[in-house]
Amino acid sequence: MFDTIKSTIDVFPKMRLKPWASLGDVLLVGEGNMSFAKSLLAMPVTQITHMTATTFEKKKDLSHDVIKNANFLKRIGVLVMHGVDATKLEKSFKPHAFDTIIFQFPNVGSRDTKYGHNPNHVMIRKFLRSAKPYLKLSGKIIISVVDNPHYNGVFQLEEAAAFAGYEAPETYSFDPHVFSGYFHTNTNDEKSALEDHNKFLTWVFRPKNEFTIRH
Ligand SMILES: C[S@@+](CC[C@H](N)C(=O)[O-])C[C@H]1O[C@@H](n2cnc3c(N)ncnc32)[C@H](O)[C@@H]1O
Repeated sequence: MFDTIKSTIDVFPKMRLKPWASLGDVLLVGEGNMSFAKSLLAMPVTQITHMTATTFEKKKDLSHDVIKNANFLKRIGVLVMHGVDATKLEKSFKPHAFDTIIFQFPNVGSRDTKYGHNPNHVMIRKFLRSAKPYLKLSGKIIISVVDNPHYNGVFQLEEAAAFAGYEAPETYSFDPHVFSGYFHTNTNDEKSALEDHNKFLTWVFRPKNEFTIRH
């Protein structure tokens, strides 16, 4: 019986890490202070072959600590870019096929309604649409968000997947403590929003194969 309990307990960390295994050629958008990119590189399970880490903010608007993280990443061979809009990737990238595209805790930092919707609802749909041409057919998009009724209602990630041409997404619990050195920051300040919440989900989206047979 103890063996069964132990093997059941062992499954949980493996499940939690599943989305983060074998990331290959990875693009991170909306990286904030760039600490998540650093933490992924320190985890053997991620098997990163190349990393492009980007911030939405322009270089001139970054704090000293973010520049320090960016410089560390550059020194170890990461391509670091600033001023990258996740909803308009074509403005920053030539055609490319990433294995994985990651957006941790997307948040526009505004509540002004857009087209009658919360701006985060609109942003995530535009991001998924913009990212699809930059993904291998076998690739995946990873998005982590707070798991509560408010955020679930705002993002509506299952509907966003269908809207943007992805299979029904899978979810995994997200534990920020697993990512050593990761310090999550809010969009408009350096405070951690994760402190105010205790349940997080990582959503994994795979592109729908839109191959159609024409007669
Ligand atoms: C809550 S913070 C999370 C930062 C970081 N990913 C983390 O987990 O600590 C949300 C981030 O989304 C970024 N963001 C907002 N709109 C964006 C957009 N259109 N494209 C890319 N990033 C965006 C903000 O600049 C901010 O860094």
